[in-house]
Amino acid sequence: MKASKAIVIAIDGTSASGKSTNAKLVAKRLGFTYVDTGAMYRTLAWYGIKSRIDMHDGKAIAQLCRKWKTKCLCIDGHVRLLVDGYYPEKEIRTAQTSAAVPHVAAVPKVRDWMKQLQRDCVQFGNLVMEGRDIGTHIFPETEHKFYLDANLEERSKRREADGIDEDLAKRDQRDSQRSTAPLMVALGAKVINTSGLTPDQSSQQIIDGILERDPQVQALMDC
Ligand code: DC
Repeated sequence: MKASKAIVIAIDGTSASGKSTNAKLVAKRLGFTYVDTGAMYRTLAWYGIKSRIDMHDGKAIAQLCRKWKTKCLCIDGHVRLLVDGYYPEKEIRTAQTSAAVPHVAAVPKVRDWMKQLQRDCVQFGNLVMEGRDIGTHIFPETEHKFYLDANLEERSKRREADGIDEDLAKRDQRDSQRSTAPLMVALGAKVINTSGLTPDQSSQQIIDGILERDPQVQALMDC
């Protein structure tokens, strides 16, 4: 696989481990573009629900990817996947979408489609990309790989605080046990346990890890 010239920071990990918060903070400090790949899978799940697709029918879900009219835009430093010109910001966070998304994310053709889309995000410059398979499958060539985790109790509390009622253990099990691109620690990834850490502390650990591998990134922070 050809290495891209853009710098890509890959942040993977379990649900509610702090990926989004940390990825946004790191992107802001570095001036990089933030990409939430979970939101992309959620958008397809929402579209499937809207199109009345059976979420257990992998073939029908794969066909959706051929049908829908999408476009990626970078708005305020965040990449957004629009369907028919619309970004379903609220809809992708409902309990219905959350329940459907692991099924969508387990379909191999969907993952192939997403991989192309996500790799093409380098058109928006240097990236901080969060997900479950960024370091293992999407940008395996990047030297900046991180894996976040936290204990289940703390992760459940974070979800509750966001007003979301979700069985995290079940979702992690589904994400880790699927046959295509399961959630796992990428080779060479720095593992950070965010339990008991503030977002400032954990994002600093990520920045320190980036600078250890590539001190030249400091220059991007200073300008
Ligand atoms: O991070 P999130 O909760 O928004 O992710 C939604 C779902 O999508 C979750 O079940 C894991 C899956 N996902 C994935 O399989 N691969 C990614 N790169 C991102 C998310």
